[in-house]
Amino acid sequence: MKHIPVLLREVLEVFAGQNLRTFFDGTLGAGGHAKAILEAHPEIERYIGCDQDPRAHSIAKEVLSPWGKKVEFVRGQYAEQVAAVDGCIDGFLIDIGVSSMQFDERERGFSFMGDAPLDMRMDPEGELTAAEVVNRYPEKELARIIFEYGEERRSRQVAKAIVDARRKRPIRTTGELVEIIKPVATRGKLHPATLVFQALRIEVNDELGQLERGLKAAIEKSCSGGRVAAISFHSLEDRIVKNVFRDAKDRVKILTKKPIGPTAEEIRANPRSRSSKLRSCEKI
Ligand SMILES: C[S@@+](CC[C@H](N)C(=O)[O-])C[C@H]1O[C@@H](n2cnc3c(N)ncnc32)[C@H](O)[C@@H]1O
Repeated sequence: MKHIPVLLREVLEVFAGQNLRTFFDGTLGAGGHAKAILEAHPEIERYIGCDQDPRAHSIAKEVLSPWGKKVEFVRGQYAEQVAAVDGCIDGFLIDIGVSSMQFDERERGFSFMGDAPLDMRMDPEGELTAAEVVNRYPEKELARIIFEYGEERRSRQVAKAIVDARRKRPIRTTGELVEIIKPVATRGKLHPATLVFQALRIEVNDELGQLERGLKAAIEKSCSGGRVAAISFHSLEDRIVKNVFRDAKDRVKILTKKPIGPTAEEIRANPRSRSSKLRSCEKI
């Protein structure tokens, strides 16, 4: 499935009228936001497109080919990569979470549909896989992750079911994990494995650590008047964005008192946008 950039108009509004010379895009993905930002800002001299997934780069390279050498493709995690940029940046954007392409590549294990190895690494060379978390983490630690990152109320029961199952034999695939989770996870509108899969993905990719360190580094690296924008997809992430901006309030002006969400029209056109929230700030 083609990845549709979320809150695109709202992101463009954050940077409208800004004189952008250097822009850092921490989650380049398919280059959807990048293309629109480059079109709206012909003054950009350097667009740094960072992604930890090499497959995203090959897609984005095609989409962004009209801008030639203006675009620099950086492979790695945005928190470390933005901290390493030489000079200051006028704009910073992150749009965290899994891309539609990653979700659709079943063999990567992000989806609870079908059966695939328990991987979930956005960086295929990353050290930690979901299989390691599920088969090696102590029960208490598993329960904490599932509760904190998945907001699964029945986290302890799920962790216990996982540990009981892995005593018999290692849990190797997404399908096996779904069968273990299904009888004990919270029943609701969502698929019973949704929250546990979300928790594992966040742990495997250190998504919350990246978010906090990345935003701090982006504020640090911003030129005076530079703007930082972050799109998050659940309350835990949004809280981190809000807190990092608030803690930096002697150095930034917060541009969004409340986070900006998608319009009903956007949700209809792209259901993935449903829980998205955008916050932004400007370096003083
Ligand atoms: C939701 S997609 C971004 C889509 C993009 N904005 C677009 O319009 O096409 C998220 C992308 O960010 C990447 N990603 C997530 N966390 C990252 C991190 N900490 N460092 C670098 N890339 C990351 C993922 O590999 C994925 O390709």
